Amino acid sequence: MSITRLIAGLGVITLAYSAPLATSCDRSSLLAAADAYVAAQAAGKLDGLSSLLAVNFTYQENNKVSDITKGVLASPLKIDHQRTIADTTGCATFTELISTAGPKPYVIGTQIRQDPVNPSVITLIDTVASTTGSWAFDAAKTLQYVLKEDWSTLSEDKRVSRTLLQQTADAYLDMWSNATAADAVAWGTPCTRLEGSAYTGQGKASDSCKPGIPSNHNQAPNTHRRYVIDETVGSCSVLCVWEHMMMAADSHEFRLEGGKLRYVHTMTVCPGQVCRL
Ligand SMILES: *[C@@H]1O[C@H](CO)[C@@H](O)[C@H](O)[C@H]1NC(C)=O
Ligand SMILES: *[C@@H]1O[C@H](CO)[C@@H](O)[C@H](O)[C@H]1NC(C)=O
Repeated sequence: MSITRLIAGLGVITLAYSAPLATSCDRSSLLAAADAYVAAQAAGKLDGLSSLLAVNFTYQENNKVSDITKGVLASPLKIDHQRTIADTTGCATFTELISTAGPKPYVIGTQIRQDPVNPSVITLIDTVASTTGSWAFDAAKTLQYVLKEDWSTLSEDKRVSRTLLQQTADAYLDMWSNATAADAVAWGTPCTRLEGSAYTGQGKASDSCKPGIPSNHNQAPNTHRRYVIDETVGSCSVLCVWEHMMMAADSHEFRLEGGKLRYVHTMTVCPGQVCRL
């Protein structure tokens, strides 16, 4: 047997063994790691985070593997808003951060992945860091809208399965490249989209997320999707590549209430920080 075949064979064995272990990471370990990340971002120092990083830890910023000491985490940010969801099945978190203070305001979406065998160990920090020049960027406006929304824990009767949450997220992200995908989205009313700082909400019970959805379904797809799903808040975070818009780094987060789409938040970072359709 060739070495490649042998390694491929071992890979299969490893997966078969690790799958059952990956069924549950406790919420408090996940949230503690996310809190350490937020503290590091506030300080612009990795001190409290370093001890949690796996030996083979990877840092990714705007879809590129990067040096964590040279990215956005190296600058202290005054955090005006933070919200974290936890995926106890996928062993991961997603945190939304807003920092309005100059000279560089930020709206950041970060997925953190942890070792299912040892959930206090971080294996990947995967961040989309939007700032001046990103799609419809205005951190102060985004903050103003975010503070009016309710992303709190859902009562049991308003929760749906992670499969359903991911299905709606995928159907939504397929709308650029699939003419029937919109039919598979569980649209709700009211529903509001916050794309960068562009807000569709009118504060009405009839607010819909449908106006402005893609009418051209022959565009390049949204690919390399990474998911964090928290059923307790009805939320699915997806980081991906926005192939139809300059291969931009994109973060979409969806909240469903009672299985129906209620909120969509996006952050989109284009090469050179200038987005063009
Ligand atoms: C790091 O190592 C862990 C444990 O061996 C493994 O599960 C994980 O896939 C590795 N991560 C990367 C990014 O290589
Ligand atoms: C398009 O979307 C629909 C609804 O989600 C799905 O059933 C269908 O398989 C998709 N088509 C392709 C080519 O992906």
